[in-house]
Amino acid sequence: MPHKDLLDIASLDRAEINHLLDQSVPFKELFTRSVKKVPALKGKSVLMLFYEPSTRTHSSFEVAAKRLSADVTNFDVAQSSITKGESVRETIETLQAMRTDYVIVRHKASGLPGTIARLTKASVINAGDGAHAHPTQALLDAFTLKEKFPDPTGKKVLIVGDVLHSRVARSTSTVLKKIGVEVGYLGPGSLVPRVGPENIRRFTDYKQAMAWSPDVVYLLRVQMERQDVQFFPSLREYHKLYGITDQRLEEIRDRGLYIMHPGPVNRGVELCDAVMDYERSLINDQVENGIAVRMAVLYWLKPGAGSHDLQIPPSL
Ligand code: CP
Repeated sequence: MPHKDLLDIASLDRAEINHLLDQSVPFKELFTRSVKKVPALKGKSVLMLFYEPSTRTHSSFEVAAKRLSADVTNFDVAQSSITKGESVRETIETLQAMRTDYVIVRHKASGLPGTIARLTKASVINAGDGAHAHPTQALLDAFTLKEKFPDPTGKKVLIVGDVLHSRVARSTSTVLKKIGVEVGYLGPGSLVPRVGPENIRRFTDYKQAMAWSPDVVYLLRVQMERQDVQFFPSLREYHKLYGITDQRLEEIRDRGLYIMHPGPVNRGVELCDAVMDYERSLINDQVENGIAVRMAVLYWLKPGAGSHDLQIPPSL
């Protein structure tokens, strides 16, 4: 049954995830046609509400919505009255008066997309909230993996790096486990929480993690902006211990492993330049697949029927 909102992966069951991944296939096939647009959301409006920077997610949602023939409005936070002290409540009220059908939100506060979803009949899609969730990134990761492993059951994905601050790690490991993939975490003890999701192997040593025989090495971006204390001695040290160096890339090539990364990449930290030309790097596939998966999500969600009445509590 379609949902009104997509706020996290935890609220999707395995059948819904597989449905969304299957629905992404025909949308991706559209990309090879001369006319890449379909009228599925003609007359619908999509509002992009990004309070944090984004390249991939923002442009991918915009392209996805336009390929479905929706009207897209970009809310430019830097140019908005938020910089003059307008609250989120006032902003939502103003924007809601525009009678939007879909709101795509990125915000540093975990849970804000959920709050907006409760206030509006528009469909709300979480495009990343704090360290909580990034569900469409997770779905595009699962789709990219399934292109290489149509039955991913029992395949192993090693997620490397800053798990603690990563909404991508949280959502992607959840979706992978739901489709039968085994997940491992590798990183400094300070960035790989010992408590948290069950059935995840945790490693602090690169060699031990490789001995687990992963099929995919999934590198996370080191998020300096979310680290209020220093979690490792230096970026150089991090690269030496956990980054894909030229030498490690050779081992990865010999083993035939795939490499993934959600972007944006810190070259020389998570990976060396040569990874970008590695024949089994799926980083560009992830970007391309993001459009198809987001088209499937927009097409699947059902905004609440009737008006777009708001019931905003005074506290917001
Ligand atoms: N993967 C991801 O969320 O990238 P952006 O921050 O560029 O959107």
